[in-house]
Amino acid sequence: MTLNPFHDGLRIEPSPGAVALVIFGASGDLTKRKLLPAIYQLTRLHRLPPRLAVVGVANSPLGDEGFRKVMAESLEEFARVEGPDEVADSLARNLHYLEGDLTDADLYRRLESKLAEVSPGAGVLFYLAIPPSLGPAVTTHLGAVGLSREQDQGQWRRIIVEKPFGTDLASARSLNQLLHDHFDEEQIFRIDHYLGKETVQNLMVFRFANGMFEPIWNRRYIDHVQITAAETVGVEQRAGYYDSAGALRDMVQNHLMQLLTLIAMEPPVAFTAESVRDRKMDALRSVQPIINPATGEGLDAIVRAQYADGWVDGHVVPGYCDEPGVNKASTTETFVALKVQLDSWRWAGVPFYLRTAKRLPKRVTEIAIQFKRPPLQIFKQVSPTPVASNLLIINVQPDEGISLRFEAKLPSTRMQLAPVMMNFRYGSTFGGEVPEAYETLLLDALIGDPTLFARHDFVEASWALISPIHQAWAAHKATGIPTYEAGEWGPAEAHALINADGYRWRTQ
Ligand code: NDP
Ligand code: BG6
Repeated sequence: MTLNPFHDGLRIEPSPGAVALVIFGASGDLTKRKLLPAIYQLTRLHRLPPRLAVVGVANSPLGDEGFRKVMAESLEEFARVEGPDEVADSLARNLHYLEGDLTDADLYRRLESKLAEVSPGAGVLFYLAIPPSLGPAVTTHLGAVGLSREQDQGQWRRIIVEKPFGTDLASARSLNQLLHDHFDEEQIFRIDHYLGKETVQNLMVFRFANGMFEPIWNRRYIDHVQITAAETVGVEQRAGYYDSAGALRDMVQNHLMQLLTLIAMEPPVAFTAESVRDRKMDALRSVQPIINPATGEGLDAIVRAQYADGWVDGHVVPGYCDEPGVNKASTTETFVALKVQLDSWRWAGVPFYLRTAKRLPKRVTEIAIQFKRPPLQIFKQVSPTPVASNLLIINVQPDEGISLRFEAKLPSTRMQLAPVMMNFRYGSTFGGEVPEAYETLLLDALIGDPTLFARHDFVEASWALISPIHQAWAAHKATGIPTYEAGEWGPAEAHALINADGYRWRTQ
């Protein structure tokens, strides 16, 4: 068995030989912003096979040279590559472009010929960097010309499907069905870029490569969990997508549900894709229905709101409805906070509070695990207020690391207590560059490791929790949507949600 020249650590498989990456949507924003810089970094680090051919496909009449120019611009803007660069030059020689309409069957016959010409006998990874509405057409055409069929001698076929994966349970099911008509589940890689973040991967290492945390990782010791994904940016140039999606579809159904299950899952028996994803599925299945679809009961555990104008990072910013491309009367939520409960021995009675929004005062994604107070307050004579709870904070971004808050004695001849932090920071501990999520995920798909990708049942189970919320909101449309000032930590309703249980959101 020859080893894959770009394997690392646990990810070993027979050499894939020649590899071709086909990017549908090669002239688009994702390709420029994320995919080409990721390919460049992986090439620079010698993580890609030397014979990787990249075939870009899109409508625009770019030609090979035009696509290479897109790459040069992309690297300059997003990978800080300026002027002559050997890695970029060698990559450019392997870039090819195919112009055409993705709904045209003939394009796929031309693609077949192109692949035979530039990378004969290669394993092929198809990347759907296209508007989601085109996913079904591309999948069907790939199947119809036989490009989805795996062949012997390393000629594997895989497909990466971008988010959003459907817009509700029914559409996600039919997309899964269509994909399964042409590809086996092992060939399908549903991307959720949060799973490629170093700190998110580290959650599994933290929990399962250390013996000391697992015994206390349960309802006996943990009081509640807060998961926050706060952004300072607004809707940016994405109103066309976002205004019909909203924060619940955009962030909660995928990224926050992934974080929730990584915290809540039981230990897998091995670090294998199926074992990890099975345990995450168990955790997701244990989440109590958030809304009763028949009665709409449960809506009071979910707060939605939309940003009004305000100040962020010292600048005046417009309200959501005044952003370019947004419907002036839009009731799309840019803020969601909700409480979920899990029916499991480990988590029964432990509330998980989830919160995400745009235009908050600070960009921060973190998981805060608050432990129960000691059963006896033996320092109450010197510390009349109850001691602070121990708090474990997993900083996903931007200040990647893990912090633990505990009580310490203040240096003094008297007994005085104060909470202190013990901090681990990626930057100061390891130095160097932290790989971008897309680098990790692209490499994993090329290697054929689906551990960090969403399985079909996960996306459906997640939609099964989220879709009833959309249905209930649709039924209660008349009530409109509360607003929050841009640059504030969300609406009063969100604070009331958690205060009702005796807690407060962590404002960072
Ligand atoms: P863009 O609109 O920027 O790009 C769409 C691409 O699809 C373009 O290359 C366009 O080609 C091509 N295209 C559209 N219609 C056709 C057609 N009929 N035939 C051939 N090509 C076609 O979208 P994004 O790059 O922003 O997004 C792509 C996907 O990635 C979406 O699913 C999005 O949700 C997802 N995503 C994007 C992120 C981002 O940062 N941009 C982040 C996370 C996910 P042309 O313009 O030449 O016609
Ligand atoms: C994307 C959402 O999936 O994640 C965006 O569509 C959001 O709306 C982005 O801004 C946040 O990603 P990150 O990596 O910046 O936290």
